[in-house]
Amino acid sequence: MTRILSGIQPSGSLHIGNYLAMMKPMIALQDDNELYCFIVNYHALTSLSDPEKLKKNTMDAAIDFLALGLDPEKANFWIQSDLPEVQELTWILSCNTSLGLLERSHSYKDKIAKGLTPNAGLYTYPVLMAADILLFQAEKVPVGKDQKQHLEITRDIASSFNANFGETFVLPEPVIEDNLAVIPGVDGQKMSKSYDNTICMFEEEKKMRKRIMKIVTDSRGVDEPKDPDKCTVFSLYKLFASDEQIDSLRNAYLAGGMGYGDAKQLLFEVIRDYFKPFKEKRDQLAADPQKVKDIMLMGAAKTRIKARETLSLVREKVGLKYF
Ligand code: ADP
Ligand code: TRP
Repeated sequence: MTRILSGIQPSGSLHIGNYLAMMKPMIALQDDNELYCFIVNYHALTSLSDPEKLKKNTMDAAIDFLALGLDPEKANFWIQSDLPEVQELTWILSCNTSLGLLERSHSYKDKIAKGLTPNAGLYTYPVLMAADILLFQAEKVPVGKDQKQHLEITRDIASSFNANFGETFVLPEPVIEDNLAVIPGVDGQKMSKSYDNTICMFEEEKKMRKRIMKIVTDSRGVDEPKDPDKCTVFSLYKLFASDEQIDSLRNAYLAGGMGYGDAKQLLFEVIRDYFKPFKEKRDQLAADPQKVKDIMLMGAAKTRIKARETLSLVREKVGLKYF
Protein backbone atom coordinates (compact mmCIF):
# COMPACT_ATOMS: atom_id res chain seq x y z
CA MET A 1 0.00 0.00 0.00
CA THR A 2 1.44 3.34 -1.04
CA ARG A 3 0.85 6.38 1.17
CA ILE A 4 -0.67 8.99 -1.12
CA LEU A 5 -1.60 12.48 0.03
CA SER A 6 -3.12 15.58 -1.53
CA GLY A 7 -5.11 18.59 -0.42
CA ILE A 8 -7.32 21.23 -1.98
CA GLN A 9 -7.92 24.82 -0.89
CA PRO A 10 -11.47 25.87 -0.05
CA SER A 11 -10.81 29.31 -1.51
CA GLY A 12 -13.96 29.12 -3.64
CA SER A 13 -16.55 26.59 -4.80
CA LEU A 14 -15.02 23.44 -6.27
CA HIS A 15 -15.56 23.09 -10.01
CA ILE A 16 -15.41 20.53 -12.81
CA GLY A 17 -11.69 21.30 -13.36
CA ASN A 18 -10.98 20.38 -9.71
CA TYR A 19 -13.19 17.33 -10.07
CA LEU A 20 -11.52 15.88 -13.15
CA ALA A 21 -7.95 16.78 -12.19
CA MET A 22 -7.93 16.14 -8.47
CA MET A 23 -11.09 14.82 -6.83
CA LYS A 24 -11.92 11.99 -9.24
CA PRO A 25 -8.34 10.60 -9.39
CA MET A 26 -7.96 10.82 -5.61
CA ILE A 27 -11.25 9.01 -5.05
CA ALA A 28 -10.12 6.28 -7.46
CA LEU A 29 -6.96 5.75 -5.37
CA GLN A 30 -8.78 5.03 -2.11
CA ASP A 31 -9.29 1.32 -2.77
CA ASP A 32 -5.70 0.18 -3.18
CA ASN A 33 -3.66 2.74 -1.26
CA GLU A 34 -3.33 4.41 2.09
CA LEU A 35 -4.97 7.65 1.07
CA TYR A 36 -4.75 11.02 2.83
CA CYS A 37 -7.11 13.62 1.40
CA PHE A 38 -7.83 16.92 3.11
CA ILE A 39 -9.25 20.38 2.79
CA VAL A 40 -6.55 22.94 3.41
CA ASN A 41 -8.39 25.75 5.13
CA TYR A 42 -5.26 27.08 6.89
CA HIS A 43 -3.79 27.64 3.44
CA ALA A 44 -6.96 29.37 2.27
CA LEU A 45 -6.53 31.92 5.08
CA THR A 46 -3.58 33.39 3.15
CA SER A 47 -6.00 34.74 0.57
CA LEU A 48 -9.46 34.69 2.14
CA SER A 49 -10.40 36.97 5.00
CA ASP A 50 -14.16 36.51 5.03
CA PRO A 51 -14.94 34.03 7.83
CA GLU A 52 -18.43 33.17 6.59
CA LYS A 53 -17.12 32.40 3.11
CA LEU A 54 -14.30 30.27 4.48
CA LYS A 55 -16.70 28.29 6.67
CA LYS A 56 -19.14 27.75 3.81
CA ASN A 57 -16.48 26.78 1.27
CA THR A 58 -14.91 24.34 3.72
CA MET A 59 -18.20 22.58 4.48
CA ASP A 60 -19.16 22.58 0.81
CA ALA A 61 -15.84 21.04 -0.20
CA ALA A 62 -16.26 18.29 2.41
CA ILE A 63 -19.81 17.59 1.22
CA ASP A 64 -18.70 17.58 -2.44
CA PHE A 65 -15.99 15.00 -1.79
CA LEU A 66 -18.30 12.73 0.20
CA ALA A 67 -21.07 13.01 -2.40
CA LEU A 68 -18.63 12.22 -5.22
CA GLY A 69 -17.60 8.98 -3.57
CA LEU A 70 -14.82 9.64 -1.10
CA ASP A 71 -15.29 6.96 1.53
CA PRO A 72 -14.18 8.09 5.01
CA GLU A 73 -13.89 4.45 6.08
CA LYS A 74 -11.34 3.68 3.38
CA ALA A 75 -9.47 7.00 3.22
CA ASN A 76 -8.15 9.42 5.78
CA PHE A 77 -10.31 12.43 5.01
CA TRP A 78 -10.21 15.51 7.21
CA ILE A 79 -10.17 19.28 7.46
CA GLN A 80 -6.68 20.68 7.97
CA SER A 81 -7.59 22.88 10.95
CA ASP A 82 -9.06 19.91 12.82
CA LEU A 83 -5.48 18.66 13.16
CA PRO A 84 -3.61 21.70 14.50
CA GLU A 85 -0.62 19.39 15.12
CA VAL A 86 0.47 20.42 11.63
CA GLN A 87 1.23 23.88 12.99
CA GLU A 88 3.77 22.54 15.44
CA LEU A 89 5.59 20.77 12.65
CA THR A 90 5.36 23.93 10.54
CA TRP A 91 7.17 25.86 13.26
CA ILE A 92 9.90 23.26 13.65
CA LEU A 93 10.39 23.09 9.88
CA SER A 94 10.41 26.92 9.65
CA CYS A 95 13.39 26.95 11.95
CA ASN A 96 15.13 24.65 9.50
CA THR A 97 14.20 26.45 6.28
CA SER A 98 16.41 29.12 4.72
CA LEU A 99 14.78 32.37 3.67
CA GLY A 100 16.44 31.98 0.27
CA LEU A 101 14.40 28.87 -0.43
CA LEU A 102 11.14 30.73 0.20
CA GLU A 103 12.26 33.81 -1.70
CA ARG A 104 12.62 31.72 -4.84
CA SER A 105 8.98 30.57 -4.70
CA HIS A 106 7.27 31.31 -8.02
CA SER A 107 3.79 31.35 -6.59
CA TYR A 108 4.81 33.96 -4.01
CA LYS A 109 6.51 36.09 -6.67
CA ASP A 110 3.51 35.72 -9.01
CA LYS A 111 1.11 36.91 -6.34
CA ILE A 112 3.24 39.97 -5.63
CA ALA A 113 3.49 40.66 -9.37
CA LYS A 114 -0.33 40.61 -9.49
CA GLY A 115 -0.35 43.44 -6.95
CA LEU A 116 -1.29 41.41 -3.89
CA THR A 117 0.08 42.83 -0.64
CA PRO A 118 1.76 39.75 0.79
CA ASN A 119 1.25 38.66 4.37
CA ALA A 120 3.75 36.50 6.21
CA GLY A 121 1.44 33.51 5.75
CA LEU A 122 1.73 33.75 2.00
CA TYR A 123 5.49 33.78 2.35
CA THR A 124 5.64 30.73 4.61
CA TYR A 125 2.88 28.90 2.69
CA PRO A 126 5.37 26.31 1.32
CA VAL A 127 6.52 25.41 4.85
CA LEU A 128 2.95 24.66 5.91
CA MET A 129 2.55 22.58 2.77
CA ALA A 130 5.78 20.72 3.55
CA ALA A 131 4.47 20.04 7.06
CA ASP A 132 1.19 18.74 5.59
CA ILE A 133 3.09 16.22 3.52
CA LEU A 134 5.88 15.24 5.93
CA LEU A 135 3.58 14.84 8.93
CA PHE A 136 2.08 11.79 7.23
CA GLN A 137 5.31 10.51 5.65
CA ALA A 138 3.55 10.62 2.28
CA GLU A 139 5.31 8.74 -0.49
CA LYS A 140 3.36 10.13 -3.44
CA VAL A 141 1.70 13.51 -3.84
CA PRO A 142 -0.55 14.00 -6.88
CA VAL A 143 -0.62 17.72 -7.76
CA GLY A 144 -1.10 20.07 -10.68
CA LYS A 145 1.91 21.45 -12.59
CA ASP A 146 1.73 24.72 -10.67
CA GLN A 147 2.60 22.84 -7.45
CA LYS A 148 5.82 21.31 -8.75
CA GLN A 149 8.05 23.83 -7.02
CA HIS A 150 6.20 23.44 -3.72
CA LEU A 151 7.06 19.74 -3.84
CA GLU A 152 10.70 20.56 -4.58
CA ILE A 153 10.74 22.87 -1.57
CA THR A 154 9.21 20.09 0.55
CA ARG A 155 11.91 17.67 -0.56
CA ASP A 156 14.64 20.27 0.13
CA ILE A 157 13.29 20.88 3.62
CA ALA A 158 12.99 17.14 4.32
CA SER A 159 16.45 16.27 3.08
CA SER A 160 18.17 19.05 4.97
CA PHE A 161 16.27 18.06 8.11
CA ASN A 162 17.34 14.43 7.61
CA ALA A 163 20.94 15.55 7.09
CA ASN A 164 20.94 17.63 10.27
CA PHE A 165 19.00 15.39 12.63
CA GLY A 166 19.27 11.92 11.11
CA GLU A 167 16.85 9.98 8.94
CA THR A 168 13.36 11.24 9.87
CA PHE A 169 11.23 12.02 6.84
CA VAL A 170 10.30 10.07 3.75
CA LEU A 171 11.11 12.14 0.66
CA PRO A 172 7.79 12.53 -1.18
CA GLU A 173 7.54 12.06 -4.93
CA PRO A 174 5.29 14.43 -6.86
CA VAL A 175 2.87 12.78 -9.27
CA ILE A 176 2.22 15.27 -12.03
CA GLU A 177 0.00 14.28 -14.91
CA ASP A 178 1.80 16.21 -17.63
CA ASN A 179 -0.67 15.33 -20.32
CA LEU A 180 -3.70 16.17 -18.24
CA ALA A 181 -5.54 18.77 -20.25
CA VAL A 182 -6.00 22.18 -18.73
CA ILE A 183 -9.74 22.42 -18.45
CA PRO A 184 -10.95 25.71 -19.86
CA GLY A 185 -13.39 27.98 -18.06
CA VAL A 186 -16.33 29.84 -19.61
CA ASP A 187 -13.96 32.59 -20.81
CA GLY A 188 -11.59 30.11 -22.46
CA GLN A 189 -8.78 30.65 -19.88
CA LYS A 190 -7.86 27.90 -17.37
CA MET A 191 -10.89 27.24 -15.19
CA SER A 192 -10.00 28.48 -11.71
CA LYS A 193 -11.70 29.40 -8.45
CA SER A 194 -9.91 32.71 -8.68
CA TYR A 195 -11.05 33.75 -12.19
CA ASP A 196 -14.85 33.72 -11.85
CA ASN A 197 -15.01 31.45 -14.90
CA THR A 198 -15.96 28.15 -13.29
CA ILE A 199 -18.69 25.61 -13.88
CA CYS A 200 -19.52 24.01 -10.54
CA MET A 201 -20.80 20.45 -10.60
CA PHE A 202 -23.48 21.01 -8.00
CA GLU A 203 -24.77 24.38 -9.17
CA GLU A 204 -28.52 24.68 -9.25
CA GLU A 205 -29.68 23.60 -12.74
CA LYS A 206 -30.88 26.97 -13.98
CA LYS A 207 -27.71 28.69 -12.86
CA MET A 208 -25.53 25.99 -14.37
CA ARG A 209 -27.32 26.33 -17.69
CA LYS A 210 -26.96 30.11 -17.61
CA ARG A 211 -23.27 29.76 -16.89
CA ILE A 212 -22.77 27.34 -19.77
CA MET A 213 -24.66 29.65 -22.12
CA LYS A 214 -22.03 32.30 -21.28
CA ILE A 215 -19.14 30.27 -22.72
CA VAL A 216 -17.23 32.48 -25.12
CA THR A 217 -17.20 31.24 -28.74
CA ASP A 218 -16.23 32.78 -32.06
CA SER A 219 -18.85 34.62 -34.08
CA ARG A 220 -19.64 31.97 -36.73
CA GLY A 221 -23.33 31.84 -37.58
CA VAL A 222 -25.57 28.80 -37.37
CA ASP A 223 -25.03 27.68 -40.99
CA GLU A 224 -21.26 28.03 -41.04
CA PRO A 225 -19.01 25.01 -40.39
CA LYS A 226 -17.14 25.24 -37.09
CA ASP A 227 -13.81 23.98 -35.79
CA PRO A 228 -14.44 21.58 -32.87
CA ASP A 229 -10.79 21.61 -31.85
CA LYS A 230 -10.80 25.34 -31.25
CA CYS A 231 -14.02 25.51 -29.30
CA THR A 232 -14.35 25.59 -25.51
CA VAL A 233 -17.88 24.12 -25.68
CA PHE A 234 -16.59 21.11 -27.58
CA SER A 235 -13.52 20.63 -25.36
CA LEU A 236 -15.76 20.49 -22.31
CA TYR A 237 -18.29 18.25 -24.06
CA LYS A 238 -15.53 15.71 -24.77
CA LEU A 239 -14.88 15.34 -21.05
CA PHE A 240 -18.38 14.12 -20.24
CA ALA A 241 -20.02 12.75 -23.40
CA SER A 242 -19.86 9.20 -24.78
CA ASP A 243 -17.74 8.44 -27.88
CA GLU A 244 -20.87 8.34 -29.97
CA GLN A 245 -22.11 11.69 -28.72
CA ILE A 246 -18.66 13.21 -29.32
CA ASP A 247 -18.55 11.96 -32.92
CA SER A 248 -22.01 13.21 -33.57
CA LEU A 249 -21.28 16.72 -32.27
CA ARG A 250 -17.95 16.79 -34.13
CA ASN A 251 -19.74 15.97 -37.40
CA ALA A 252 -22.42 18.58 -36.75
CA TYR A 253 -19.70 21.22 -36.18
CA LEU A 254 -17.87 20.32 -39.39
CA ALA A 255 -21.04 20.17 -41.50
CA GLY A 256 -22.46 23.52 -40.41
CA GLY A 257 -26.12 24.00 -39.53
CA MET A 258 -25.60 23.74 -35.80
CA GLY A 259 -25.41 26.90 -33.71
CA TYR A 260 -23.30 27.33 -30.60
CA GLY A 261 -26.49 27.78 -28.56
CA ASP A 262 -27.57 24.22 -29.40
CA ALA A 263 -24.10 22.86 -28.66
CA LYS A 264 -24.18 24.59 -25.28
CA GLN A 265 -27.54 23.02 -24.54
CA LEU A 266 -26.05 19.57 -25.27
CA LEU A 267 -23.09 20.36 -23.03
CA PHE A 268 -25.40 21.43 -20.22
CA GLU A 269 -27.32 18.17 -20.53
CA VAL A 270 -24.27 15.89 -20.37
CA ILE A 271 -22.81 17.69 -17.36
CA ARG A 272 -26.16 17.73 -15.55
CA ASP A 273 -26.73 14.02 -16.25
CA TYR A 274 -23.20 13.05 -15.26
CA PHE A 275 -23.56 14.61 -11.80
CA LYS A 276 -27.20 13.74 -11.24
CA PRO A 277 -26.62 10.58 -9.12
CA PHE A 278 -24.04 12.40 -7.03
CA LYS A 279 -26.34 15.36 -6.56
CA GLU A 280 -28.95 13.26 -4.78
CA LYS A 281 -26.32 12.11 -2.31
CA ARG A 282 -25.10 15.68 -1.96
CA ASP A 283 -28.56 17.00 -1.15
CA GLN A 284 -28.92 14.40 1.60
CA LEU A 285 -25.59 15.32 3.14
CA ALA A 286 -26.25 19.05 2.88
CA ALA A 287 -29.52 18.55 4.77
CA ASP A 288 -27.62 17.03 7.69
CA PRO A 289 -24.62 19.26 8.50
CA GLN A 290 -24.19 17.66 11.93
CA LYS A 291 -23.59 14.31 10.27
CA VAL A 292 -20.98 15.85 7.97
CA LYS A 293 -19.28 17.51 10.91
CA ASP A 294 -19.16 14.18 12.76
CA ILE A 295 -17.67 12.44 9.73
CA MET A 296 -14.99 15.11 9.43
CA LEU A 297 -14.14 15.04 13.14
CA MET A 298 -13.89 11.26 13.04
CA GLY A 299 -11.60 11.60 10.03
CA ALA A 300 -9.34 13.97 11.95
CA ALA A 301 -9.29 11.67 14.98
CA LYS A 302 -8.32 8.71 12.83
CA THR A 303 -5.60 10.68 11.03
CA ARG A 304 -4.24 12.15 14.26
CA ILE A 305 -2.64 8.81 15.17
CA LYS A 306 -0.19 9.05 12.26
CA ALA A 307 0.39 12.78 12.89
CA ARG A 308 1.27 12.19 16.55
CA GLU A 309 3.65 9.40 15.64
CA THR A 310 5.69 11.64 13.32
CA LEU A 311 5.51 14.60 15.65
CA SER A 312 6.79 12.58 18.56
CA LEU A 313 9.78 11.43 16.50
CA VAL A 314 10.49 15.00 15.33
CA ARG A 315 10.24 16.41 18.87
CA GLU A 316 12.77 13.88 19.99
CA LYS A 317 15.13 14.57 17.08
CA VAL A 318 15.25 18.34 17.59
CA GLY A 319 15.52 18.23 21.38
CA LEU A 320 12.04 19.29 22.42
CA LYS A 321 11.78 16.14 24.50
CA TYR A 322 14.05 17.41 27.22
CA PHE A 323 14.16 14.48 29.62
P1 ADP B 1 -8.13 26.67 -8.61
O1 ADP B 1 -7.26 27.26 -9.70
O2 ADP B 1 -9.52 26.48 -9.05
O3 ADP B 1 -8.02 27.44 -7.31
P2 ADP B 1 -6.44 24.77 -7.35
O4 ADP B 1 -5.20 25.55 -7.65
O5 ADP B 1 -6.93 24.75 -5.93
O6 ADP B 1 -7.60 25.21 -8.33
O7 ADP B 1 -6.22 23.29 -7.84
C1 ADP B 1 -6.74 22.14 -7.21
C2 ADP B 1 -6.49 20.97 -8.12
O8 ADP B 1 -7.30 21.07 -9.28
C3 ADP B 1 -5.05 20.88 -8.63
O9 ADP B 1 -4.68 19.53 -8.71
C4 ADP B 1 -5.10 21.53 -9.99
O10 ADP B 1 -4.08 21.05 -10.83
C5 ADP B 1 -6.48 21.11 -10.46
N1 ADP B 1 -7.08 22.08 -11.37
C6 ADP B 1 -7.63 23.26 -11.05
N2 ADP B 1 -8.10 23.88 -12.13
C7 ADP B 1 -7.83 23.09 -13.18
C8 ADP B 1 -8.07 23.18 -14.59
N3 ADP B 1 -8.69 24.22 -15.12
N4 ADP B 1 -7.64 22.19 -15.38
C9 ADP B 1 -7.02 21.13 -14.85
N5 ADP B 1 -6.77 20.98 -13.54
C10 ADP B 1 -7.17 21.94 -12.70
N1 TRP C 1 -0.91 24.24 -2.36
C1 TRP C 1 -1.87 23.30 -2.90
C2 TRP C 1 -2.71 23.98 -3.97
O1 TRP C 1 -2.93 25.16 -3.93
C3 TRP C 1 -2.78 22.77 -1.82
C4 TRP C 1 -2.05 21.97 -0.78
C5 TRP C 1 -1.80 22.32 0.52
C6 TRP C 1 -1.52 20.68 -0.98
N2 TRP C 1 -1.16 21.34 1.15
C7 TRP C 1 -0.94 20.32 0.29
C8 TRP C 1 -1.44 19.81 -2.07
C9 TRP C 1 -0.31 19.09 0.43
C10 TRP C 1 -0.80 18.60 -1.90
C11 TRP C 1 -0.23 18.25 -0.65
O2 TRP C 1 -3.21 23.29 -4.87
